[in-house]
Order: sequence, then C-alpha cells, then structure tokens
Amino acid sequence: MTATTAPAGTVPPGPEAPVDMARMRADPLSFVTWMNRRYGDITSHLGDGERVFMLHRPDLVRHVLKDNVGNYTKAHTPDDAMLRPLLGNGLLTSNGEEWARQRRLCAPAFRRTEVSTFDGIITEETEALLDRWRPAMRDGTPLPVEHHLTSLTLAILTRAVLGVDLGAAGEGFGRAVDAVNRFMGHYVPDPDPDPEDTALRRRGYVQARNFLQLIARTVIASRRAAGTGQPPAHDTGSLLDAMIGELDDEALRDQVLTLVMAGHETTAKALTWTLYLLDRHPEEADRVRAEIEDVLGGRTPTAADLPSLVHCRRAVEEAMRLYPPVWLISRRATGPDTIGGYDIPAGALVCVSQWVLHRHPDHWDRPDAYVPDRFADAPPPSHLYLPFGGGERTCIGRHLALVEATLVLAVLMRAARLELEPGFPVEPEALVTLRPKHGMRMTARQR
Ligand code: HEM
Repeated sequence: MTATTAPAGTVPPGPEAPVDMARMRADPLSFVTWMNRRYGDITSHLGDGERVFMLHRPDLVRHVLKDNVGNYTKAHTPDDAMLRPLLGNGLLTSNGEEWARQRRLCAPAFRRTEVSTFDGIITEETEALLDRWRPAMRDGTPLPVEHHLTSLTLAILTRAVLGVDLGAAGEGFGRAVDAVNRFMGHYVPDPDPDPEDTALRRRGYVQARNFLQLIARTVIASRRAAGTGQPPAHDTGSLLDAMIGELDDEALRDQVLTLVMAGHETTAKALTWTLYLLDRHPEEADRVRAEIEDVLGGRTPTAADLPSLVHCRRAVEEAMRLYPPVWLISRRATGPDTIGGYDIPAGALVCVSQWVLHRHPDHWDRPDAYVPDRFADAPPPSHLYLPFGGGERTCIGRHLALVEATLVLAVLMRAARLELEPGFPVEPEALVTLRPKHGMRMTARQR
C-alpha cells in the first residue's frame, strides 16, 4: 500500500511477549489506546493464541473496509463467535452471497426517505416516556436514564421497523436483552477462571435467549395474523412483511432478532452519552435548547424540522465521536494482503477501534474536548469518523439512528432539564457496546 515495504516476515511493531488477556479485558480501551500511542498506527500483538493486527490510520482502515473488502470476512472473528449463537445467520453475521441477498432485501426499508416517515412513532414514544417521568420530575427523584432510553429505542424499533407494538412484553424483552448483553459483554473464549460464575451467567443467558427467540416468533406470528385481517393503522412493518414473504422460519427469526439487537442498544447508548455530555457542557446545552425554542416554539418536531435541528444533530454526532457505541470492528483476512508495507497472512485477525481513531491526536483538534461545532462544516475525512462503520458493511440503520436520536433529543430537551445526579460516577465500559459502567442516573426537571 505504501512506497516502503518491510522485509518479508517482519511484523508490525508491538509488544514481543504475548499480551496478558485478562488484564487487557479488564480495560480494553486503555489497551487499544496504549498500543496506538506506544507503537503507532499499524501494530501487532499476540493475544488468545494468535497474532492480532490493529490499524488506526484512515487510509489503512479504508483499505480493509472498502478498497480491498473482498479479502476480508466477518466469519470466525471474536464478534462472530459472540453474536452467532444468539443471532444465527442474520444481516450482522452473514457473509458473501448470503449477506448480499439479505442486504438487498432489507435496504429499501432503511432509506433516508423511508425512515423519515417514522417521525410520529419516535416522538409519540418519547412523549410517553416523558409522561412516565412526570412524577419523578415533580419530586426530583433521580432516574436510571440509560435503562429508560434502552426501553424507548426498543419500542421505537419494533413499532417502526417491524410494525409490532410490544406493549407490556417490552419490559420483559428489555430485561432479557440486558441479560444477554451482560453475558456476551463478558464473553471469554478460553476457560473462565471462575467457572461457577460463568455457569450462572450462562444459565441466565440461555433463559434470556430462549425468551428473546420466543418474542421474535411472537412478533412474526402477530404480524402474520395482522396480514390476514385489517391492514395496520401505520404503514410500518413492511420490512417484516417482505421478509415473511422471502425467508423460512429460522431465517426470519434470526433476522428479526438481529434487527432488534443491532438496532436499539446502540442508539440508546448514543443518546445516553449525548445527554451526559450536554449536562457537562451547559453552554452547548443552552445552544441546543435555544435552537429547539427557535425551530419548534411549543410544538412537537417532525421529520420536516430535521434540516433545522442542526445543533441537536451535531450534539449527537460529537457524542458518538467521543463515545462511539460500537468501539471496535474486527475482520479476518481470507487471503494474504499487504497493509502499510507489512505482510498480512491469510486468516489474520485485523481490528480497528473507533475509540482510538475518533480521539487520534494527529487528526483531531483538541481530540478529547466536546465540540459539536466541529461537524458544522465539511464532514470528517474519509474513514476517520466511523460510528457506523464503513464500506459495504456500513450500518444499515444509520439514517434511522440519526433521525431517531435527533428527534428524541429535541423532544426530551424541550420538556425537561436533565442533570447528572451529583457525585454519580460515570466511566465508560467497553462491552459489546460502549456503555456507562454504572448506568446514568439523572434528575429531570420540568422546563
Ligand atoms: C447510533 C446507533 C448505531 C450505531 C452506532 C451503529 C453502529 C454500527 C456499526 C459500527 C456497524 C458495522 C459493524 C462492522 O462493520 O463490523 C453496524 C452494522 C449494522 N447495524 Fe448499526 N448502528 C446503529 C444503529 C442501528 C440501527 C437503528 C439499526 C436498525 C436495525 C442497525 C442495524 C445494523 C445492522 C443490521 C448492521 C449489519 C449491516 C451489514 O453488515 O450489512 N444499526 N452498526
């Protein structure tokens, strides 16, 4: 890729001794940052019995995700091992022709114009959340905001994308999703030092997985039943209808679970971090509130307001830079490659961390500061800002996520003043998604 080529057999810089994986897993964000600062933009280390390559320069990242994408697969990556037992062979985990077929089937439902029609569902569900918050808003009781936003994005996703209102089942569904995330987040491929603990969590995981699969089947059955009766009031769920027409039962269940799991937790985390950062930066929060006042007056936003809600949107974009909900992307090389002058053997594991890229001091001015206005002019250079990944496997839900996060933020900030509970510890934890380790407890006061 570059003019200089390392002598054959030379590996990119990195620690010579195998990395202590238990220590790495205890704080993966510090590990990936340290590797980059200490050894540079292309590094390698021995971990879990194999050599791992990490790339943190936009052109190298682009090579893997876009220019030479045909040489890379998601199969047999650590993410794959973690997700496949739950999600089977859906859009997130499939590869090759099978993936391309699934992507074609799902793509129309996620077009920008299509997701704009979900605005009513998004604002309605957010206003319902505010109604549930009202008693706590009156007496100042702190709210587990992270948890509530996860339920909110789950309700929006199932109604908008699948055309099914989970209603009361949503609560149990949310708990099962939590249990699965906890298990997958602490997933350890080699024997766990504490097998009893693992067995306990595994039992919880299996129960939760069975429950999720049951819900997925219920969602499908209820949509099938609706198809034989009156058309639903909203023209949503057309994706599920299309999938029902195309896929067998197992593939359908995998796809429904994939869309639900990939589509709500991430958006909830983006919103949680945005509310946290706005609380820490009152001058930015004031600008967001002034914009909401200006654009909306007292009314509820619609998709038509999105082009005017620029501060709301930038607040979210900058939050996803500092706290990318997906903090690591991994791929396996299917054939040999050369990256940055180094030989990458067939089968090698190649990783990119958005946490590192998004805070890289060579590319960002004041990399650790929250400056939403950095998104005011041109978008960031190619493959530097990757909250939604890049290349052909880029997030199919990215338009939905941005429309949703912007509208939810506008509705919440119009009605409430959210403040972190004094002294509440906030610390990022890199599990499947990048979440606040202790949750996010905030008080909400009526505006
Ligand atoms: C802020 C919210 C979101 C973030 C940060 C996010 C992030 C990502 C990233 C980084 C990838 C690529 C992973 C890789 O290359 O290995 C991805 C893929 C994917 N996302 Fe999202 N996502 C979000 C919202 C959504 C939503 C709302 C949906 C809707 C169902 C969704 C569904 C998917 C699916 C199905 C894939 C796999 C696409 C494929 O491989 O073709 N995501 N997402």
